[in-house]
Amino acid sequence: MTHHPALRRRLLSLSGTVLAALALLALILMHGYARQTADRSYDMMLGSAVLQLANVVRHEEQGFTVDLPVSAFATLAQAPQDRVFYRISVNGDFLTGYPDLPAPPPRLSPGQALTQEQADFYNADYRGEQIRVARLLRLNTERLPQDEIVIELAQTRLAREQLAEQMMHPARELILAVLAVALLLLWLGIYYALRPFSQLARALSRRSPKDLTPLSLPVPKETLPLLDTINHFIARQQTLLERVESYTSVAAHQLRTPLTTLHALCENARDETDEPRRHRLLIQLVEQCDQLSLTVRHLLNQAVLDHRFHSQEPQPVALNALVREVCVDLAVQALHRRVELAFEPADHELQINGDAFALTQMLTNLIENAVAHSPPNGLVEIRVSAVPAPCISIRDQGPGIADEEKQKVFERFYRGAASRHHGSGMGMAIARDVAEHHHARIWLTDNVPHGLTVTICFDREGH
Ligand SMILES: Nc1ncnc2c1ncn2[C@@H]1O[C@H](COP(=O)(O)OP(=O)(O)O)[C@@H](O)[C@H]1O
Ligand SMILES: [Mg+2]
Repeated sequence: MTHHPALRRRLLSLSGTVLAALALLALILMHGYARQTADRSYDMMLGSAVLQLANVVRHEEQGFTVDLPVSAFATLAQAPQDRVFYRISVNGDFLTGYPDLPAPPPRLSPGQALTQEQADFYNADYRGEQIRVARLLRLNTERLPQDEIVIELAQTRLAREQLAEQMMHPARELILAVLAVALLLLWLGIYYALRPFSQLARALSRRSPKDLTPLSLPVPKETLPLLDTINHFIARQQTLLERVESYTSVAAHQLRTPLTTLHALCENARDETDEPRRHRLLIQLVEQCDQLSLTVRHLLNQAVLDHRFHSQEPQPVALNALVREVCVDLAVQALHRRVELAFEPADHELQINGDAFALTQMLTNLIENAVAHSPPNGLVEIRVSAVPAPCISIRDQGPGIADEEKQKVFERFYRGAASRHHGSGMGMAIARDVAEHHHARIWLTDNVPHGLTVTICFDREGH
C-alpha cells in the first residue's frame, strides 16, 4: 500500500515547532534581560550602601571599630522583604558581621586588584537563599604596611525577582499572543494553499462519467498547471473515445455489405437447381468468405495496433530475422498462387527500436498485396538493406500503380479501380500507420518493365 503523507499536518507541525522554539528563545532572552535590568537598579542601592559602610570602618588605638550607620540600611529599605547580611574583614581576618557569608567566586579572588570606589557584584547561595553581594576593598593608609579592609554587603534577591517578573509579565503575554496569531495565520495559509486541491477533487468526483468537457474552476494561478494537466488528460480520453466510436461505426459499415452479399449468395446457392450454376455460386461463396475474413482480420489488426501504439514501449527488433520469419510464413500461401518469394537479408543484423507485432502486420499486408498482384510464376523480391539507413523493399512484377493513384492507395478503404483480387482497402493504410509510428518513410516506385516496389526506410540504426 502506498503511504500518503498528510501534507497539512506536516506543514503545521514543522512550522509550528519552529515558531514555538523561536517564542521560547525570545522568552529566555527577555528573562535574562529583565534580570539584568532589575540587578542594575538594585545594585546601585547596594553599591551606595556598601560605600557608606566602608566609610565607618576606622582604625583606633585598640584596633578597628565599626559604627554601623542607620542611613546605610535605610537605603536598602526600598526592598523591605529582603534580608541584609554583611561581613567586614581586615587583612583577611574576620572583624564583624556574618562570618559564614560565602566567599566570592574565583574571578574576585583577593589577589585581584579591586578599585576602592566601585564595588563588585556577584550572586551566591547563602543559607538556602539566593543573595546578591556587593564587595568593596578599602586600603587604610594610616599605618604601614597598609591595611586591606574588605566590606561585603549582601541582600536576598526577592525584590529583584519581583521587579524582573513585573517586566517579564507583559512581554510574556505579548509573545504568547504573537505566537497564537502566527499559528492561526499559518493554519489559515495552509488551508487556503491546499484548498484548490480539494476543490479539484470535489469537482472531479461530482462529474458524471460521460462528461468529458474540460474542467473550468477559478483556481489560483499556482494550481493552473495541475488543472491544465487534468484537462489535457480529459481531452485525450475524449479523442480516444471518439476514435473508438468512429472506429466501431466504420467497422460495422465495413462488415454489413459483405455479410449481406454472403447472405444473398447463400440463398441463391440454396435455391439453385442447376448443378453447374450452383457450383459457380459456391465458388463465389468461398471467395466472399475469404474476403470477409480478410476484412475482419484487418479491422481487428487495426484495433490491436491502435491500442499497442498507445500502450507499448518500443523494443529492440532484429530486422533480418523479423522479415525472414514473415517470408517463411507467407511462402506456402504464395506458392498456392504460383508466386515465388525471394528474401535477401542485409549483410549484418540490423537492430531498430519498435514493435515487432506491428512491423509483422505491415510486412504481411505488403507482401500479400505483392503476391496478389503478381502474374502467375511471378517473383516477389523482399530485400533488407543497411545503407544508408535500415530499409526494407518489396518488389513485384505485377501491373504496378499509376502515379496519380500512388498516394490514394494509402487512404483507408481505398481500393484500386482495377483491383480484381479481394481485399479490404485497409492493408496499405495499416502499413502507413505502422511506418509512421516507427518514424519510418514509406513510398512507392515503379519497376521496369512493370511492377511495384514498396520501400520502407527507418531513421537510422537503433531508432
Ligand atoms: N503490389 C501492388 N501492385 C499493384 N497494386 C497494388 C499493390 N498493392 C496495392 N495495390 C493497390 O492499392 C490498393 C489498396 O491496397 P490495400 O490497402 O492493401 O487494399 P486491398 O489490398 O484490400 O485492396 C489495392 O486495391 C490495389 O489497387
Ligand atoms: Mg491488400
